[in-house]
Amino acid sequence: MDSKLIETLDKLNTNHSLELEEYQLLIENINPDLMKRAAEYAVKYQEQFYGNKVFIRGLVEFTNYCKNDCYYCGIRRGNRECERYRLRTEDIISCANEGYKLGFRTVVLQGGEDFAYSDEDICDIIRRIKTEHDDMVVTLSIGEREHNSYQAYFDAGASRFLLRHETANPELYAALHPEEMSWQHRMDCLKDLKNIGYQVGAGFMVQSPGQTARDLAMDLKFIEEFKPDMCGIGPYISHKDTPFAKEESGTLEMTLFLISLLRMIYPQMLIPATTALGTIHPKGREMGIQAGANVVMPNLSPTSVRKMYSLYDNKICTGEEAAECINCLKGRVSSVGYEIVEDAGDRVGFYK
Ligand code: SAM
Ligand code: FES
Repeated sequence: MDSKLIETLDKLNTNHSLELEEYQLLIENINPDLMKRAAEYAVKYQEQFYGNKVFIRGLVEFTNYCKNDCYYCGIRRGNRECERYRLRTEDIISCANEGYKLGFRTVVLQGGEDFAYSDEDICDIIRRIKTEHDDMVVTLSIGEREHNSYQAYFDAGASRFLLRHETANPELYAALHPEEMSWQHRMDCLKDLKNIGYQVGAGFMVQSPGQTARDLAMDLKFIEEFKPDMCGIGPYISHKDTPFAKEESGTLEMTLFLISLLRMIYPQMLIPATTALGTIHPKGREMGIQAGANVVMPNLSPTSVRKMYSLYDNKICTGEEAAECINCLKGRVSSVGYEIVEDAGDRVGFYK
C-alpha cells in the first residue's frame, strides 16, 4: 500500500487530527487494506473505552409530519404519497414503557419537524417518562427549534439531542435542501444544544447526491473540531417519491471506513451502526460494530406505523415487534463477539 496513505492514517492515530487535505487523501484512496488498518486502530479504541459492550437506544418515531422539504427524505412535506400519522402522548408513553421492560434505558423520541406538538406537549411527554422511570434517559431528535424550546425540554428532563448536521459544506447543504432551510441555523442549533448541557449527536449522510471527497473531509474536520458526544452516519439511500429518486445510494465500504476514521478522530465518541447501514447490506450493522461503532438503535414504534416512517426505500425492521428486534440484534451483536448491555450508555467522560 502507498506509504503516504499509511503515514497519514498513522498520523491520525497519533494526533487524532489531520489537515483537510489529508482527510481527503484517505477518502479518495479508500481500499481494502486501508480500511482494514483503520478498523484495527478503531477497534483498539472501542475496546479501551467501551470493552465489548454495545449500547442500545429505543427509537420511537412518533410523527412523520414534517414542515421541511429536504430533497432526499421520504417524509418531506412535498411527498403526497406519504401516509401521515401522529402518535398520541399515551401511545408514546406505552412505547417507552415497553422499551423499559425490554431493558432499554434510553428512549429516542424522533419525528419530522411537527409543530402540532407544542413545547408543553413535548415537555409533558418527557416528564411522564421520567416520572415513571427515573433511570431512563430521554433523547430528542425533533429537528431545529429556538433556544427557549431546547431549554424547556432540557429543564423537563431530556438530556440528549440528536441533530445531524447533514453536511459541513454550506454549498452542498444548499443543494440538498430548499432555500428556506439554513445550514447556519442548523449549526447554531447544535452549538446551542451543547451549551445548554445536552449530550449532542451530530452526523451526516455518506455519499449523498453531489457529495465529493472534499465534502466528506469537511465533515470529518467538523467532527474533530466540534466533538459531539455522538456522531451518526449512514449511507444516503434514495427514496422513490423524492426529487433524488434516481440518485445512487452510498456504499457499505465508504460508510465502514468513515466509522473507523471517526473512532480514531474521537475515540470516546458514541457511534451508532445505523439502520441505513443495515438496509444496504444484511450484515451492515454487524460490520459497523467491527469497524468501530458501539451503539444500535432498534425501533420501539408500534408496528402499525413503522412502514409510514419511510425515510428511504427498503428500510429494514418495519414488520417486527420491538421484542423481536431486540432479540434479533442481541444475536447479531453476539455473533461478532460483542454484547448488548442494559445501560443508559453515556459517552465516556461526559459526566466526569
Ligand atoms: N426531523 C429530525 C431532524 O431533522 O433531525 C429527525 C428526523 S430526520 C428524518 C433523521 C435523519 O434521517 C436525518 O438527519 C437524515 O440524515 C436521515 N435521512 C433522511 N433521509 C435519508 C435518506 N434518504 N437516506 C439516508 N438517511 C436519510
Ligand atoms: Fe429489527 Fe433484526 S433488528 S428485526
